[in-house]
Amino acid sequence: MKRTVYITRKLTDDMIDKLSNHFQVRMWHEEHVPVPRDVLLKEIEDVDGLICLLTEKIDEEVLSKAKQLKVISNIAVGYNNIDIDFAAKKGIVVTNTPGVLTETTADLTFALLMAAARRVVESSDFLRSGEWGAWSLMQMTGQDIYGATLGIIGLGRIGEALVKRAKGFDMNVLYYNRTRKPETEEKLGIHYREMKDLLQQSDFVCLLLPYSAEVHHLIGKEELSLMKRNAILINTARGGLVDEDALFQSLKNGEIWAAGLDVFEQEPVPIDHPLLSLPNVVTLPHIGSASVKTRMRMAHLAADNMVSVLTGNEAITPVISHK
Ligand code: NAP
Ligand code: GLV
Repeated sequence: MKRTVYITRKLTDDMIDKLSNHFQVRMWHEEHVPVPRDVLLKEIEDVDGLICLLTEKIDEEVLSKAKQLKVISNIAVGYNNIDIDFAAKKGIVVTNTPGVLTETTADLTFALLMAAARRVVESSDFLRSGEWGAWSLMQMTGQDIYGATLGIIGLGRIGEALVKRAKGFDMNVLYYNRTRKPETEEKLGIHYREMKDLLQQSDFVCLLLPYSAEVHHLIGKEELSLMKRNAILINTARGGLVDEDALFQSLKNGEIWAAGLDVFEQEPVPIDHPLLSLPNVVTLPHIGSASVKTRMRMAHLAADNMVSVLTGNEAITPVISHK
């Protein structure tokens, strides 16, 4: 008998075809609306595999309902939406999509950095609003990127890919990482700093570490107060890493200069969120990996992980494996 896989969102036909060759596939048929919690709690009961997005909270409540779940394949590299410890206890393999999105996310991170530094969105709005009276010397002046100091917190795959872009702009790159990486320092020509020093010395601070309870609000009032007045904070990792109230105050009071945010504590970010009222914040709807090619690669890797595990093989990119 074919195993059953549930997909929490309508995906591409070729991916569904790939899965249907092996499994009985059930799916939430909406593309832009997440599966309701009660539907997920029901669907999970009798499936062998779950393919989900980062919008689904796969917690103890969901996992407790699962009677025969063997694998969860997350279509994202970050997996903070899944209780991996509880999954491990139940012997469920969890997979993610590392690597295939690295360069695309680094591109977007650098785009956000440039947009915030050079006031790209604000300037475009200024022009469209009809306020552009005449060219003037200090109009819409921003911060230089070339030659500036970039501090990366979380130097993993995407962090390293970001360094390559920064080096093309002659940036001085500092990093803080849980594990120091002397060989990478040598190879990429970058410098390790403790977090406090990195915050004090950087013109741009980019967050590229995974979110977990231990790093909740890693960047709060105190950390923001250490940053330069011309500094720009870029977050393409996870919203929970930043205390958004403290960031709002800091930006509003000119304690740091600008921010570029692809991620928020609550997504979609409420339209009346204070941060959205500030001209010195560039906001994006969590599109770090959103190129056509990369999203297809992520979907296929998630499907391939599912096929591999449910046909008795190793996961291609496991978060945890119990073999
Ligand atoms: P990765 O290769 O695992 O890199 C993460 C790095 O963060 C590792 O070097 C890790 O250090 C470090 N780290 C972990 N915990 C830390 C801590 N407490 N303090 C300092 N450093 C810490 O992951 P990646 O592929 O680069 O992705 C990074 C994150 O980006 C993902 O987890 C995801 O949340 C986010 N992301 C967002 C988008 C988007 O659309 N905006 C797209 C892709 C990814 P160790 O070497 O010690 O493990
Ligand atoms: C996106 O945020 C991811 O973690 O892949």
